[in-house]
Amino acid sequence: MSSVYLQTFGCQMNVADSNGLAYQAWSLGCTFTEEPGEADILIVNTCAIREKAETRVYGRLGQLKNIKRPGSKLLVAGCLAEKDRQVMQKKAPHVDALLGPREYRRFKQLLAQWGVPTDAPPPQTEMRAASAEDDPGHDGAAQFAHLRALVSITRGCEKFCTYCIVPYTRGPLESLDPEEIEAHIRREIRCGAKEITLLGQNVNSYIHGPTGLNFAGLLRRLSAIDGLERLTFLTSHPKDFDGDVVDALAQLPNVQPRLHLPVQCASNRVLAAMARLYTIEEYLEKIAYFRERLPRWALTTDLIVGFPGESEADFAQTLELVERGTFEAAFIFAYSPRSGTPAATMAAQVPPQEKIRRLQVLNTAQMQRTNDFHQSFIGETVPVIVSGPSKKDASRMAGKTGHNVTVVWPRDARSEHRPCVDIAVEQAYNWGLAGRVA
Ligand code: SAH
Ligand code: SF4
Ligand code: F3S
Repeated sequence: MSSVYLQTFGCQMNVADSNGLAYQAWSLGCTFTEEPGEADILIVNTCAIREKAETRVYGRLGQLKNIKRPGSKLLVAGCLAEKDRQVMQKKAPHVDALLGPREYRRFKQLLAQWGVPTDAPPPQTEMRAASAEDDPGHDGAAQFAHLRALVSITRGCEKFCTYCIVPYTRGPLESLDPEEIEAHIRREIRCGAKEITLLGQNVNSYIHGPTGLNFAGLLRRLSAIDGLERLTFLTSHPKDFDGDVVDALAQLPNVQPRLHLPVQCASNRVLAAMARLYTIEEYLEKIAYFRERLPRWALTTDLIVGFPGESEADFAQTLELVERGTFEAAFIFAYSPRSGTPAATMAAQVPPQEKIRRLQVLNTAQMQRTNDFHQSFIGETVPVIVSGPSKKDASRMAGKTGHNVTVVWPRDARSEHRPCVDIAVEQAYNWGLAGRVA
């Protein structure tokens, strides 16, 4: 019997892919270990979205070179495997195989080459959470991991935003069959899932060829699945997100009150250079309708500072958008050139120092708004899905609200093993909320 170590970097797409790889390995009778030094097969599922993500992966691969037992195999999967296919051999010669995100059908074959028998009967036991966290040392979360399940509805992306590596690593858009998606969701519910997150780089571009079912239609159909308590989705693209989707969301009782709609920046000049395919006015019009139909939802976004050619005046527009309190939360990134993408060779790259300054200014402005949003929950009782003991303080439990806000509360025997609890919110912080079991 082979034992597998699996570590995941990157976005939820990668987490979902890792779950799929783990399932395949488990179905062949493999067991899982959190000790890379004990594993026969080590899998690192990688990310290439920014230079920092790559650096972390190569750092980890370097460590694993010394940790792995002689004779064990190291597989690099995911976006960096695809992006660095030609140079991986040189940069990390101890890697035994590469599988890009579109090659996971070859995974079992690879395991077979590495001596895993493929004719064994399927295991009789339940599969337990197998993937090591991006930050190891987080004990006790595995028991709760199945409560919030990730279900892909599309693969790939063909938007080709000029800064982005994803279309090159994940290939063109493919929409999965609604039957396949439904079956996956039912399986997760049977395994105890309370919340399903539908995944795609741009879920709004979902289109089922044979029936013409679009994302709004898919939401309506999936929302009606028996036993599905909470439904949510990632990520929406402002070009394709429309009133139809908002209307569907407003009608579906189990959809969670949050929308992630990355704007990237507020300058039309920069948006055009990014090939985002919308103007800031169009974005604002869409969110105005969204706010009108869905008051008290959380709107979150992604922002990039220091895109090539971003002037002080361009940046001021983005800052103003954030200062107006447009978003309940935002992920803010310094532009990172990705070789092979059009933006990497554009003139007028912004100096690193200046990117960091803009990042900090924007972060500070957003924090103000996020904190106000968190304050607005004080005195309320919020339903929470438990994610496990708090990473920072093991005497507390942590979980997420429907708005996706982190909540912590003192651990007690009464609530220790419950998947969902109601928390009376007492304090608000930049990072989230604290309270006690109601
Ligand atoms: N498909 C999603 C997000 C994909 S990547 C979308 O279109 O919104 C997640 C976020 O990473 C992006 O929204 C963007 O803000 C950021 N990002 C992508 N490429 C980047 C790069 N080269 N440098 C900095 N940030 C980047
Ligand atoms: Fe990248 Fe743009 Fe596709 Fe998002 S929509 S994955 S940012 S190319
Ligand atoms: Fe990274 Fe690939 Fe996701 S580059 S962010 S793992 S799509």
